[in-house]
Amino acid sequence: MQLTQKQTFLKPADVPAVKQPLPDREMTSLVSYPVRGPWGDASYRGNCDGTLFRDLIRRYRPRRVADPMMGSGTTKDVIAELNRCENSCIEYWGSDLRMGFDVVAEPLPGPFDLVWVHPPYWNIIRYSDDAADLSTCETFDEFIGTLFLALRQCYDAVFPGGRMAVLMGDVRRNRCYYPIAREVMNMAGPLGELRSVIIKAQHNCRSDHVTYASMEDVPIQHEYCLIFKKNIMLRQAA
Ligand SMILES: C[S@@+](CC[C@H](N)C(=O)[O-])C[C@H]1O[C@@H](n2cnc3c(N)ncnc32)[C@H](O)[C@@H]1O
Repeated sequence: MQLTQKQTFLKPADVPAVKQPLPDREMTSLVSYPVRGPWGDASYRGNCDGTLFRDLIRRYRPRRVADPMMGSGTTKDVIAELNRCENSCIEYWGSDLRMGFDVVAEPLPGPFDLVWVHPPYWNIIRYSDDAADLSTCETFDEFIGTLFLALRQCYDAVFPGGRMAVLMGDVRRNRCYYPIAREVMNMAGPLGELRSVIIKAQHNCRSDHVTYASMEDVPIQHEYCLIFKKNIMLRQAA
């Protein structure tokens, strides 16, 4: 496959082999990674640390992985490191609207064993003025509708038996709480079977420097990683 500006392909052959394995980690439904890993670009707003993604890769052992909203490239860096240091042989495809790929309008070049999706948390960070950018949706309903189309496109690219992991946070705006994660959980069915809900503590957010003492509501300091599985349909004997 070719490396184009619009997307990033990573084949195991692209990376030099073998250093030493990274320490393993027992994962539960509650995770917290106070120390940032070296992947991606911390200055890219909304960038996530790659440790949860790395732990999911170690757990599910996918051979082909995609990230259609790769932002600064955190997942690409994690896969490159795993291929280099843990003798993995994982193929990676990643892209983003900033590279010209609109996940709502274009199919992913699947099938993949794992599709990682880290969408904008509605308008909490505005990534661009492009009308296709999920962060530009005017209303909550419009955002949820567009998010569903994006996730459906991602799910279509999952191989039967494979998974889609959606990293998502809720939003509070003008004292209104918008439970985005609940909306995504309710999309189970068209997005496959909801198999795990992981609560991830948020660290190093810009809002960490805001004083909330006078605020009535409890500050949000967690996000969700929702794991959907595409079950293998067994054909019934005629
Ligand atoms: C939360 S950020 C992802 C950050 C990334 N995980 C990282 O570690 O850098 C969300 C990304 O979604 C992208 N995006 C928004 N609308 C999109 C669309 N319609 N198609 C593809 N990407 C989109 C934005 O450009 C942004 O990079």
